[in-house]
Amino acid sequence: MSLLEVADLHAHYDKIHVLTGVSLCVDASEIVSILGRNGSGRSTMLKALIGLVPPTAGSVRLAGRELAGLLPYRIAKAGLGYVPEERLIFPNLTVHENLEIGLKPAAGGRPPWTIEQMYAFFPRLLERRGTKAGNLSGGEQQMLTLCRSLLGNPSLLMIDEPTEGLAPKIVRQLVDVMLEINRRGVAIILVEQKMTVALQVAHRCLIMGRGQIVFEGSPQQLRENVDVRRNWLEVA
Ligand SMILES: Nc1ncnc2c1ncn2[C@@H]1O[C@H](COP(=O)(O)OP(=O)(O)OP(=O)(O)O)[C@@H](O)[C@H]1O
Ligand SMILES: [Mg+2]
Repeated sequence: MSLLEVADLHAHYDKIHVLTGVSLCVDASEIVSILGRNGSGRSTMLKALIGLVPPTAGSVRLAGRELAGLLPYRIAKAGLGYVPEERLIFPNLTVHENLEIGLKPAAGGRPPWTIEQMYAFFPRLLERRGTKAGNLSGGEQQMLTLCRSLLGNPSLLMIDEPTEGLAPKIVRQLVDVMLEINRRGVAIILVEQKMTVALQVAHRCLIMGRGQIVFEGSPQQLRENVDVRRNWLEVA
């Protein structure tokens, strides 16, 4: 059994059928990258998994437990973490207060993540611990959003386009932290537009097209498959 098992997941915005039957699995030790063109439904898929867009059909099982139809906070409590594209911070609270709000008890007997570990991952946040989060740079807000989700002690963390608009140095830092938290036992679903980043961190790559998974393979297989890239990724 995989940690996450999604079967024939559908989602609509009113009458628009955006997810038309997504099926995928993620193992406990994996980083899976989700690629696809703009508008292919990647963000909607993450939102459907966390319950922000309620699925209209299908199944989402995390560690064997059915989550489809539950409210987002229940799904988060069951171990699914979500780092949305828009950086979710409390602008009028300090960096440290934002982190404190993220602290949740760990499920499943693993040691919980600590705020000190977050500062070790991102020393810049330690330097800015007393700063109001609204005054942080985009990259710092992205670090903070990631840390807040991680402090919820998810078994699987879903991250939507974390590197968008960030300087290469910060992108490298985020990549290192994603690899490190994965080494420490957190599975990751990464929606990532930058092909180099997606291929660098992923154990497995999935491509979304027309609201479904249309390709699954290793980063190497995707690198070698010109047709798949032309059909589903490159902009004509
Ligand atoms: N709140 C919404 N209401 C109506 N339609 C939406 C809404 N959010 C997204 N859509 C539509 O659903 C489709 C999938 O959007 P989604 O945001 O999931 O794509 P994506 O793959 O994340 O692309 P990108 O992030 O590049 O925009 C698009 O056609 C989009 O216009
Ligand atoms: Mg998106």
